[in-house]
Amino acid sequence: MNYHSPVLLSESVDALDIKENGIYVDVTFGGGGHSREILSRLGENGKLFAFDQDPDAQQNKIDDDRFVLIAENFRYISRFLRFYGVKKVDGVLADLGVSSHQFDEAERGFSTRFDADLDMRMNQKSQLSAKKIINSYDEKQLADILYMYGELRNAKALAKEIVLARTEQEIKTSFQLKEVLQRHLPKAKENKFLAQIFQALRIEVNEELQVLKEFLQQIPDLLNENGRLSVISYHSLEDRLVKRFIQTGNFDGKMIKDFYGNIQKPLKNVGKMVIPTKEEIAENNRARSAKLRIATLN
Ligand SMILES: C[S@@+](CC[C@H](N)C(=O)[O-])C[C@H]1O[C@@H](n2cnc3c(N)ncnc32)[C@H](O)[C@@H]1O
Repeated sequence: MNYHSPVLLSESVDALDIKENGIYVDVTFGGGGHSREILSRLGENGKLFAFDQDPDAQQNKIDDDRFVLIAENFRYISRFLRFYGVKKVDGVLADLGVSSHQFDEAERGFSTRFDADLDMRMNQKSQLSAKKIINSYDEKQLADILYMYGELRNAKALAKEIVLARTEQEIKTSFQLKEVLQRHLPKAKENKFLAQIFQALRIEVNEELQVLKEFLQQIPDLLNENGRLSVISYHSLEDRLVKRFIQTGNFDGKMIKDFYGNIQKPLKNVGKMVIPTKEEIAENNRARSAKLRIATLN
């Protein structure tokens, strides 16, 4: 099966404005679609570092002297680049979230379609799984993550139901969770609700928003002059962080001005937000929620 079809491929790589001999980073290697496109535009002395915390991504490693794949979390981007003697780069691309491979492998537990262990770890070495969250977080913690990360208005009722059900029996699988919550899922929107519940758990398991913040904060010091940041996000919680950080340099979206009234922010937008064409969405349904933001140093 196809590991992953890259989304907004030419748009996100065009955004990097690739210099032939530049140094670039693809922090979400996955199936390597974006990495291959970057390499095709790089000259002999160019360099591409890629990150992926999922050991499965190693199977897509590209055999090319200009390419290095780092099997780590991109929250440590600066630290690992420094290990390779790299302090500054010409562009960083992030295609956030999970790959089709991760969704389609039933046992990874990301999909509402299969009955699988509630896992959802992108890095199988990490300690926290969705099962642990469902069976050990208290009612308030559960309600908070369902509300904040799943944007579910009935989060409190869902959390209560989970806590009640698990006193009888541990909730181990995705279908068990679905059954426990069944009466709270509106008939016509069952799949949408479940997807939101799974999204919330996935974000908590992988600390996705915290990781994204830590990553973005390192970008201003990493980019060379005229260097580019190209970020594709797939839900509003991620996109909001990217948008605010580019516009204001912080995650609250507050404009901080200096004595002269100049806004203190390290990055600025390059062009407007880009979304996939109708044709791309028709060909690849996973592109439907993608949003690309591009930035450079201010
Ligand atoms: C949407 S896919 C990227 C697909 C890739 N652009 C392609 O064309 O095949 C996201 C990938 O990033 C990885 N990933 C997500 N968050 C990560 C993180 N914090 N650190 C390292 N890898 C991460 C996932 O394991 C997944 O393989």
